[in-house]
Amino acid sequence: MQKVNTKLPAFVRQEGGSMEQKNLDQIIRETVARYMNRSLIVAGNWKMNTTPVEGVELFKGIVAKKGEVCSCVNFIVAPPFTHLSEIVKLSRGTGIGVGAQNCAAEAKGAYTGELSAEMIASLGVEYVILGHSERRQYYGETSETLNKKMAQAYANNLTPIYCVGENLEEREAGKHFDVVRQQVEEVVFNLTPEQFSKLIIAYEPVWAIGTGKTATADQAQEIHAYIRKVLAEKFGDAANETVILYGGSCKPANAAEIFAKEDVDGGLIGGAALKVSDFKGIIDAFN
Ligand code: PGA
Repeated sequence: MQKVNTKLPAFVRQEGGSMEQKNLDQIIRETVARYMNRSLIVAGNWKMNTTPVEGVELFKGIVAKKGEVCSCVNFIVAPPFTHLSEIVKLSRGTGIGVGAQNCAAEAKGAYTGELSAEMIASLGVEYVILGHSERRQYYGETSETLNKKMAQAYANNLTPIYCVGENLEEREAGKHFDVVRQQVEEVVFNLTPEQFSKLIIAYEPVWAIGTGKTATADQAQEIHAYIRKVLAEKFGDAANETVILYGGSCKPANAAEIFAKEDVDGGLIGGAALKVSDFKGIIDAFN
């Protein structure tokens, strides 16, 4: 995973930026912490879409476009389980990471229909999405389950992409900060500092997922900065290095504005990841 972040620090971007007011140490510290050590990532969550044949086609289409987009961006694709083996093989040498969309909470045994983190990792998969709102909502995933899944992921060297986000009712009641704090505290706070250093977080407001409604860039920045602040309460400066992705109806038309925000390090993309041109258009937001 390369760590080259081409975004300019906010204090440089701001008109009439107050660089003089900051001493050199502070500038260096901020630049290094925020802009050198955080990867930019665009991850495609394919959900339960595409047959294996269609998935391979989609993946090949993405590979074909890779050379046309900024090399500063790391791509990840998370296809359905049935596609993983083939797509991992095709991904070799492309620099594109492959993730699963879920893993079992247990290591092995009589859990019909489940797939363990070990099975997934043995295919050469590097990432696993955990705590997606669809898993929380339709499959009853709780913090208790997610703590077990995180432990399985780390035990098998998978990097978790841990999703948090509030639903519409919670947003309208002004509870979004409390909701994400709870989702972070109940799971992420149980990690060791070493585990935490590998974690990727995705903020995905449930009301924006697949609805065509996106959080505004300012709303995204506000809550990303808040998540980073909560992480810092437990992990200190290491929180400056945590990649926090935005997800929820991210499209080529809105990605640039959202990704330009200081605490937004890329996106977790659903619907728009199923079309090569849209996925590429989103990655182009970094150009
Ligand atoms: P969407 O999904 O881009 O289709 O809204 C995002 C996600 O659920 O990861």
